[in-house]
Amino acid sequence: MSKYYLTTPIYYVNAAPHIGTAYCTFTADLIKRFQIQQGREPVVLTTGSDEHGQKVERAAKAIGKTPEEYATAIANEFVRQWQALGISVDHFIRTSDPKHFETVRDLFERCQKNGYIYKGSYTGQYCFHDELYVNDAKPGDPCPDCGRPTETVTEENYFFKLSAFGDKLLELYEREPKFIQPETRRNELIAFVKQGLNDLSITRTTINWGIPVPVEGKHVFYVWFDALISYMSAVKDREGIWPADLHLIGKDILRFHAIYWPAFLMAGGLPLPKQVFAHGWILVQESKMSKSRGNVVRPGPIAEVMGGPDALRYFLWREIPFGQDGNFSYDALIERYNADLANGIGNLASRTLTMIQQYFAGVVPASAGDPRIAEGAAATANEVTSRFLDFDFTRGIEAVIAFVSSIDRFIVERAPWKLARERQTSPEAGERLAETLYTAAEALRLVCGWLYPVMPASMEKIWVQLGMPAPLAAVRAGDLRWGLLQAGQTTQKPEAVFPRIEAKVAIPRMQELEIVEKERQNALLGKKPEAAPAAPASPVIPIDDFAKVDLRVGQVLSAEAVKGSDKLLHLKVDIGEAEPRTIVAGIALAYKPEQMVGRKVVIVANLAPRKLKGITSQGMIVAASLEGGSPVLAGFLEDVPVGARLK
Ligand code: MSP
Repeated sequence: MSKYYLTTPIYYVNAAPHIGTAYCTFTADLIKRFQIQQGREPVVLTTGSDEHGQKVERAAKAIGKTPEEYATAIANEFVRQWQALGISVDHFIRTSDPKHFETVRDLFERCQKNGYIYKGSYTGQYCFHDELYVNDAKPGDPCPDCGRPTETVTEENYFFKLSAFGDKLLELYEREPKFIQPETRRNELIAFVKQGLNDLSITRTTINWGIPVPVEGKHVFYVWFDALISYMSAVKDREGIWPADLHLIGKDILRFHAIYWPAFLMAGGLPLPKQVFAHGWILVQESKMSKSRGNVVRPGPIAEVMGGPDALRYFLWREIPFGQDGNFSYDALIERYNADLANGIGNLASRTLTMIQQYFAGVVPASAGDPRIAEGAAATANEVTSRFLDFDFTRGIEAVIAFVSSIDRFIVERAPWKLARERQTSPEAGERLAETLYTAAEALRLVCGWLYPVMPASMEKIWVQLGMPAPLAAVRAGDLRWGLLQAGQTTQKPEAVFPRIEAKVAIPRMQELEIVEKERQNALLGKKPEAAPAAPASPVIPIDDFAKVDLRVGQVLSAEAVKGSDKLLHLKVDIGEAEPRTIVAGIALAYKPEQMVGRKVVIVANLAPRKLKGITSQGMIVAASLEGGSPVLAGFLEDVPVGARLK
């Protein structure tokens, strides 16, 4: 079968990865894995970093770095994050890579040779404060970055004759109706092109940090001319991979991809990509993520608390029809995880494997399986395949979940626990038991295959527990036919792949890690840590007053939840006295009891005892109290002995 080349946008290096950029990259990874299953070969996925332009130049300067150093730090962060999130990237292209310079110049020269480049003067809006051209702005419009009024400037530069491509583009959209997806976006775009296209200025003389244009004078390429061509540079060294089969992008950058890009390629006489899919936005609290709103959510902390990235991947596609905007919330994530993964697939896996252990010593029994379920499996396979080919991941996943429910019902109806008792006396019951568990195991194998593109790591775990000999990544669509599970195969003892997650514990933990991750990324971007909202200063006290507070280093010996309270933990803390102190602390939403044992903490040792939920607390534990957030315990970077006093 033929190759399949798909791309994500190359991400700007002025922000670190978040769940919005991860969404697109996860989806590219899903499609890659799915296309491999479908037999496309090779399937190549590229992503990268968009590094040029004034903003990067300025950001680097502000923290005393060169643009190269700055861009390298952030590009490395993207590479590291995608790797940590298990995304299978084949080539990561940086626009500062010399091989990319060559491709950009080559396309420029081709367009020039074919008569689509001319020198002219560009008049546009410019923000002198940010040294930035503001595209699409009218005289008097404010700068989107700083809000100051933009000014009209005129600059000599090179133009691309975009106006010559209106009809050619409309013909392309007509000839290739799937070129732009989803359909609603295609219609919007056609209407836009029909209004007529203006020529495009593709060089700048006001910027240094860019790719030099092979002409007289100090021109560099306009960032979008540079950026789009990265899709070709990424596979430059690989014969036969270009053109792309799919550019996966967000809806905000559709015009660049569906108008400029095919026009540049037509002008250069080069093959066009086959398809552009514009997905929607991931919103948080129903609005766009932004640093100023403080609602940016990063994927790392979620993956850490939810046992890897699969829960987030599943949530995004299960919850949000691909192509539409959708909201992310921690609550919805955990609810969906518990309902579909912990109770649904996870439960099916552990029930099935446990029963095979109990009733067949862990060996898959011989049977053809239940014919009705076999039929359901064939129908589900068709449905999943056609939905995934159409980028309708939500409906594809729904079909699998419906199939899982049908297996749950089947197990309940068959009541294998009864059959197991009856088989001593009835050979027929023995056969039915074998058929029941073969059916459940075979269904589970298929579910692993269908959902592998969605949750590769978790499905592989169940696959291994099923005792499958070949890796799940090597499975092709043809292997996902009913009845290919081998009887006699030894399964493993089940281990929970999707353990239930308690929102009360997990959400504060994710929020806490989110703060740490934000600070880490800010440091990379050269931003100073944000000050906590200033609490009103307390009245000044003399040092003697402070000396009255006996602060001690303690070590937690035991911790348990306080009955009847979701906030309190009952701790025994050694502070170097003959007996450990009993301390009741309101930290249970942020810390699990097992996280506390062994931990060194700071205790107010001379506080008057106080009864909380019937337990007398002999002191207080010290924590930072964050407005609207969870408490963060005070601790030490160096080791300190128990009982040491803080002064
Ligand atoms: N550098 C350009 C792309 C050049 S491609 C030749 C760019 N970079 S970006 O970093 O700003 O955005 C990259 C992609 O991330 C876009 O497709 C954008 O839609 C997507 N997203 C950024 N935030 C997003 C969400 N909150 N939700 C979904 N996708 C979002 O544009």
